[in-house]
Amino acid sequence: MKAKRILIIDDERSLLETLEMFLTEKGYSVRCALSGKEGLKQCSLFDPHVIILDIRLPDRDGLEVLQELIQNDKKNIIIITAFHDMDITIKAVKLGAFDYIPKPIDVEELDRVIDKALKSLSLGRTVEEDVCIDPSLSYLSGKIIGKSKGIKEIFKAIGILSENRVTVLIEGETGTGKELIARAIHCNSPYREEPFQAINCSTIVGTLLESELFGHEKGAFTGAFGLKRGKFELAGHGTIFLDEVDDLPLTLQSKILRFLQEKEFERLGGEKKIKSNARVIAATNKDLWKMVKEGTFREDLFYRLNVANIKVPPLRERKSDIPLLVEYILRKISQELSKSIKKVEKEALKRMIEYDWPGNVRELENVLTNVALNTPGEVILEEAIAPLLGQKLNIHQNPIYLLNKKQNLKDIEKEHILEVLNHTQWHLGKACQILGVSRPTLRHKLKAYEISGDRKTI
Ligand SMILES: Nc1ncnc2c1ncn2[C@@H]1O[C@H](COP(=O)(O)OP(=O)(O)OP(=O)(O)O)[C@@H](O)[C@H]1O
Ligand SMILES: [Mg+2]
Repeated sequence: MKAKRILIIDDERSLLETLEMFLTEKGYSVRCALSGKEGLKQCSLFDPHVIILDIRLPDRDGLEVLQELIQNDKKNIIIITAFHDMDITIKAVKLGAFDYIPKPIDVEELDRVIDKALKSLSLGRTVEEDVCIDPSLSYLSGKIIGKSKGIKEIFKAIGILSENRVTVLIEGETGTGKELIARAIHCNSPYREEPFQAINCSTIVGTLLESELFGHEKGAFTGAFGLKRGKFELAGHGTIFLDEVDDLPLTLQSKILRFLQEKEFERLGGEKKIKSNARVIAATNKDLWKMVKEGTFREDLFYRLNVANIKVPPLRERKSDIPLLVEYILRKISQELSKSIKKVEKEALKRMIEYDWPGNVRELENVLTNVALNTPGEVILEEAIAPLLGQKLNIHQNPIYLLNKKQNLKDIEKEHILEVLNHTQWHLGKACQILGVSRPTLRHKLKAYEISGDRKTI
């Protein structure tokens, strides 16, 4: 990695020499200036990452120099001040100095402040820099990446909500990370060893959804071949995540409401009351309150779900997270797809920062996966990114989506059969036609995969 550049502006020659020696030894590339004028000149020639500026200079007012540097878009300026200069120090910080360090200088302290400044540079990275990916750094799956104000608020909420078991409603556009946040609440809670049961309320319909959630007794309906425990039962003391909760049919809304009030339910076709201590986290990308007003979502259930609320801002409202996400996602891709991408050139990053990402982080993941797979070299160029923006890549064909789910062929077959059955509203004849199999074959598969539900014809 190239050495980071540091410019020191100070009129005290002996201090300059000491600092230059110390920082050079630390691996920085250092340049010095003995006056404000010289400092400003060096700044444009040397383009330092960090500037150390003595606020008392012989030729110019240090605050003026600071202002000029900031106007030239220099953000990482560390001020050297004397103890009695407190009011100047405060002014300097207000003007935008990154930090200050009092005389006599403690070099170790200075080193720490420089380190912090350099880190903040990479966090608030502007479009002037390439993103470098170090594939040797491991990536932790399930990590929530971001340093924007919006994400920091979410970290805070996760911290608070993992300490108690209130019901949480997570609202946000598609692909903003709602499930990731739900999992983070679970994984940070004292019940992390208990199951996390996720269910997408929009992918299964009718009786089948009810049975997935609450289970069924043997023979509860045609095709209920045996007893089945539902997610509420399987979750134990863990978490049940109701994704796309807005799609819950009204009949099921009342059953879930009852569960939230009484912590008990019956399996489909059963009378025995079953207790469950599962914690409910729900997510939606719709305006649930609007649905309440329109009469498509129960108001009482809305209040029961919305005990605590997390609103996830869309990616376009927290663009400062994009460079970090790009870096993280490419590390993930490098490891999962055995692709070595080392750098994203600055123009490519600029394009990604300018774009509005209607599909949010998931769309960013898809674009990067696509580009990574099709990039022969190790650098991602703007030409590769630009044509993919706004293309609505199909996430279900996205290899990383599949890899994340670690699906095997059987899972895919089961999912496909369920999709077709839902599509034909459980008309087995039509389903057999679409699937290109005979009725006995389909029946056999239904049994093997323990699929059961409303069947119009058999
Ligand atoms: N802040 C983040 N840091 C790292 N990865 C993220 C972040 N936000 C989202 N992702 C990733 O983006 C993808 C989409 O996230 P997730 O499935 O949680 O979104 P969602 O809001 O539940 O989407 P949908 O509404 O479509 O269900 C996932 O692969 C997730 O890991
Ligand atoms: Mg989701």
